[in-house]
Amino acid sequence: MNPVKPGETRRTPWIVGVSGASGTPYAASVLRALLAAGESVDLVVSRASRLTLLDETGISFRDAHWQDDLREWLERGADGKPGTFEVDIDGVRHWSAGDLAAGPSSGSYPVKGMLIVPASTACVAGVALGLSKDLLQRAASVTLKERRPLVVAVRETPLNGQTLRHLVSLDEAGASVVPASPAFYAGATHIQDLVDFVAGRVLDAAGVEHGLYRRWQGEIGGGSRPPA
Ligand SMILES: Cc1cc2nc3c(=O)[nH]c(=O)nc-3n(C[C@H](O)[C@H](O)[C@H](O)COP(=O)(O)O)c2cc1C
Repeated sequence: MNPVKPGETRRTPWIVGVSGASGTPYAASVLRALLAAGESVDLVVSRASRLTLLDETGISFRDAHWQDDLREWLERGADGKPGTFEVDIDGVRHWSAGDLAAGPSSGSYPVKGMLIVPASTACVAGVALGLSKDLLQRAASVTLKERRPLVVAVRETPLNGQTLRHLVSLDEAGASVVPASPAFYAGATHIQDLVDFVAGRVLDAAGVEHGLYRRWQGEIGGGSRPPA
């Protein structure tokens, strides 16, 4: 039976997986931009990422109150200031990281692809090895097996050989590896600009339209001019 009636459109979200690497502002920027672009989102927040979120924002992310906690998180600027952004989170569906029966754990669940932002080295290893230790890793493995776009915004420094090998496996499996490394040619003047540059490159890899950073125009000197 087709649950989509004639004239209705099927909700086809991007899965956003937030793992326990430093960089929760990157995830917030990606989520805001996806919602602003009219995309829907299935959100998976790993257990470990709740520690980084708590450390970086002071917010305790609770499955039972995810809407309140997500709204508070997305309204924050990268400098931690509350109420910096206005967000409408109606397009978000949240799945608990321990819920291995959730929609995104099956390839038959319709999604556009998955963005892991930020990606910890543990998450990189788990996806490269197909461990599926939680819903985030399972959804990423499913994304690869279904040949859908998978973007992995790894955040760690320095990288050891083991992680580098895992990243090569992910690249060979079809994922886009997008290191969370901001560039300085786009005229950043605030932390938010650097965060938005990384988030924008993640969305570029997924082919999602956004206006998060000023693109290179082939002109030396642009990096010393602040964004319009
Ligand atoms: C405050 C804090 C910051 C962390 N930063 C990083 C990081 O930048 N990169 C990384 O790979 N792991 C980092 N970790 C370690 C991961 O959270 C840890 O490896 C965890 O097992 C990742 O699990 P997950 O991939 O299931 O989220 C950090 C941990 C904490 C508590």
